[in-house]
Formats: sequence, C-alpha cells, structure tokens
Amino acid sequence: MGPAAGDAEPEAAAGGGPWLLLALPPLLLLFALVVRQLLKQRRPPGFPPGPAGLPLIGNIHSLGAEQPHVYMRRQSQIHGQIFSLDLGGISAIVLNGYDAVKECLVHQSEIFADRPSLPLFKKLTNMGGLLNSKYGRGWTEHRKLAVNTFRTFGYGQRSFEHKISEESVFFLDAIDTYKGRPFDLKHLITNAVSNITNLIIFGERFTYEDTEFQHMIEIFSENIELAASASVFLYNAFPWIGILPFGKHQQLFKNAAEVYDFLHKLIERVSENRKSQSPRHFIDAYLDEMDCNKNDPESTYSRENLIFSVGELIIAGTETTTNVLRWAVLFMALYPNIQGHVQKEIDLVIGPNKMPALEEKCKMPYTEAVLHEVLRFCNIVPLGIFHATSKDTVVRGYSIPEGTTVITNLYSVHFDEKYWNNPEVFFPERFLDSNGQFVKKDAFIPFSLGRRHCLGEQLARMELFLFFTSLLQRFHLRFPHGGIPDLKPRLGMTLQPQPYLICAERR
Ligand code: HEM
Repeated sequence: MGPAAGDAEPEAAAGGGPWLLLALPPLLLLFALVVRQLLKQRRPPGFPPGPAGLPLIGNIHSLGAEQPHVYMRRQSQIHGQIFSLDLGGISAIVLNGYDAVKECLVHQSEIFADRPSLPLFKKLTNMGGLLNSKYGRGWTEHRKLAVNTFRTFGYGQRSFEHKISEESVFFLDAIDTYKGRPFDLKHLITNAVSNITNLIIFGERFTYEDTEFQHMIEIFSENIELAASASVFLYNAFPWIGILPFGKHQQLFKNAAEVYDFLHKLIERVSENRKSQSPRHFIDAYLDEMDCNKNDPESTYSRENLIFSVGELIIAGTETTTNVLRWAVLFMALYPNIQGHVQKEIDLVIGPNKMPALEEKCKMPYTEAVLHEVLRFCNIVPLGIFHATSKDTVVRGYSIPEGTTVITNLYSVHFDEKYWNNPEVFFPERFLDSNGQFVKKDAFIPFSLGRRHCLGEQLARMELFLFFTSLLQRFHLRFPHGGIPDLKPRLGMTLQPQPYLICAERR
C-alpha cells in the first residue's frame, strides 16, 4: 500500500499546479485590497484620538450596536470633545459639545462648509443639488436661489401666514373626523407640513387623499432611515457591495429611483404653462435661472439638479418639522399640566375662536419655551448632516486633512452640561427668566451653525408655532386609556417617535 500512496504524490502535484495558477491572481488581488484597506485605516499624523476599531470595518460595528449619537457622546467623555472614528477607511472626526461645534462651524466656517464625497451621496445626487452638494459654485447658486425663492413665495409674503392658517383648518377638520377616537396623527401632520413646502415649490397643495404624493413622501422618509443604517455605512466604505442584489442599499436605490421619476413628472406638469421671467413658484424661478445661464458652460443649473434640489427641499422640510410636531403632541399628552399651561396662554392671548397669528408669538413665552424644549430634548437631526473639510486645517492642536468627514453631534450640544442644568429632564422653564419672559440660549442649535445652517429655519419656526397653537386651541390631547407609548426614538438620520395613538377631544 506504501508505494501506491507514494505514486499518488506526483499526481496531486500535477493536479494542483493549474489550480494554483488560477487561484493566485484573485488571491493576490484580495491581498492587495486588504493591504490597501488597512493602509487607508491608519490615522493621519496629528489626527484626534478615538476608539480602537476592527480591521477592515473600523468602528462601523459600534454605530449599529447602540444609538450612534449616544455612543459618540459617551466616546467624547473618554477621548475628548473632538475625537476620531474610522468608518471602514473613511477618516471622520466627531465634534461634541457646543464649544467644539462652534469652533469649527463658526470660527472656521469656510473650511468646514464642504460635504463628504461619500459613495452614497455620489450615487444619489452626483454631489449636485443643494443639501449634499460640494462647497463651491453649485452650492452657492442653488442655496441663493432657494433662499430668495423661499422669501418671495414663502415667509416674505404677508399672505403666506394666511396660507399656513388655511392648511391648519384642513388639518384640524381632518382630525375632527376621528371624533376623539384613537388614531395615529403621523399622516395628517406629514400632509399638512409638506403642503407648506409644496406651495412654495409647486405653487399648489395636495389633498390628504392624494395617495401618490403620500407614497412618494413615505418611501423618501424610509430612505432617511435607511441612510443611517450600518449596512449603508458599509456600502460607503466598500461601494463594490452595490453589485450584490440584496441589502438595505438596494432598497434605498430603488426608492430613490421611484422618487426621481415622480418628481420629474410633477415638475413637467407644474411648468407646462410657464411664462418666462414671470415665476409662480420655485420650479419656474429655477427654469428662468437655467435659461439665463444657458450660454455659460460652467453653469450648475440643470434639469437633474432641479430634481435633486426639489427632492431635498421637500424631504428636509417635511421629515423634520413633522417629527417635531409628533414629539410635541406626545409630550403634551405625557405631561397634561404642561399642555394645560399652553392652553391657558392660548386662551388668554388668542382666545378660543380667532386663528393664531405670528404677531402673538412674542406674547406667548411659555408656548415658545415648550416648542424650544421639544427641539432641544428630542434632537430631530441628532448628528446634523455630515460636513467635510475643504482644506487642511488645525483645531485644538489636531491636524485635520482636507476631505475629512466631520460629524456634528448636535445631540451632545443639547445635552452639554456646561450649558444645560439636568439636560436629561424635559423642562420648558429653562427657556424662561424669573419674570416668565422667554430667553434665548446660545447652546440651542437644532438648525446647526455656520454656512450650511438650515435654510428652512424661519419657515419651520412659523409652521411649528401656527400648527401647534391651532391644534391645542381646538383639542385636548390624551393617550387612549392612559397607555403611555415607548419614548425610545426610532433611529435614522432623523429621530422620530415610535408609532403611537392619540385621542384629540374637542375642548
Ligand atoms: C424643525 C425643522 C427643521 C430642523 C430641526 C432642521 C435642521 C437642519 C439641520 C440640522 C441641518 C444641517 C445643517 C448643517 O449641515 O450643518 C439642516 C439643513 C438643511 N435644511 Fe433644515 N431643518 C428643519 C426644517 C427645514 C425646512 C422647513 C426646510 C425647507 C423647506 C429645510 C431645508 C434645509 C436644507 C436645504 C438644508 C441644507 C442646507 C445646506 O446644505 O446648505 N429644513 N436642517
């Protein structure tokens, strides 16, 4: 038997030769890729310290393990207000606390005004549009146009307040149809809030029965949730996983394509009877700008960037304001004494029948304090929108190279113990002075700071005040049979409450 075994050896060697030859190139390629990835994962010299990561994926796994903003605040207590994370070869720094965020976004506003060229953003908008666009001519042109149009067709017009009040009536009447029975307010708030942006962008509102528009908003907001998932962070680190036919990134791309088609058709429809240089809404104003710049080869106005900008404005305006109102309703039902206090102020300043008006806001410090506390406590956009550095820079002695991803932990600012007493307690009175007058706080930055700060802040503040006061003027809010919903937020780029039911009873 011995010689037979000995005979087999040269045969195996002969069979293994071609196999090895075939396997060698992919093995070498894999080896080269692993080495390249490990080199990418090295901290640049002088970079801030941070938690140790795993080979290849760095700290991505930690982001999936708990709420990322909470994890980051905890890490800042170990590594300092500015620390680094390795997002699978993507170098990122995290800014925690008011001082660090202000030092970068305000004191070095230009350097910190870029957006990171992450594969997800590249795939979705080619870094064009407005919200995700690189800091440069494209962003400047699109931001200026949006700010001007929002002023012209929105909050700059006296009549615009009246349009929000009209929408409030549709909203309250729709709530009335439930006659105090339990229901989920989410869809009605989403419809009412998105209609305010729709008036500016398309010059029209959509009825609450328009299922096509609602479906578009639903899948768009699903994408906001998916964009913060660990598997999408993995896609950013290893974009080649995009070829796999499964995974959350595939759902995200499918939704984005559907939203793109919907907006494309809608834009065609609302611009059908356009008269040049007589804009009726954002779409007309954009097309006018495109015409004016048609001979400029460097112009950044294009049909594609129009669709991206419209999508970004709709979702940035809807997802945020809707969630603030949903949290506000939840907290009013949770704390009936606070609800009663707001209603007392409404009755005193506005009365039971007149529509609330913005001029009354300055006479309603308690209501203002409640809305501010909801924005502080609930952290609708906990990590802001990722920034990037446009040049090499130095912060607190750390070297931050150009192109570094910058995460602004706005949650950590609103829970910064240097600026807030007992930040984990919901306490509207923190925004009132000893005379009961409203006081502004520096470390209140739900709309972020610096050049990329939210361009919808003024509109959002108008909507929040008018919708919230109209709602509490007409209804008393309570949970059905005293059942208190889960207060843990649902995770995503924005924090929203878990679905909950509410009874809205006529006062
Ligand atoms: C309560 C409501 C809102 C909150 C809490 C909020 C919060 C934010 C935050 C944190 C950012 C990131 C800023 C940064 O990159 O540092 C942002 C950006 C932005 N928001 Fe808002 N937002 C709200 C409402 C709105 C509304 C109503 C609109 C418009 C309809 C809007 C449009 C935008 C746009 C376009 C950007 C990107 C700005 C840029 O990149 O230049 N937001 N918002």
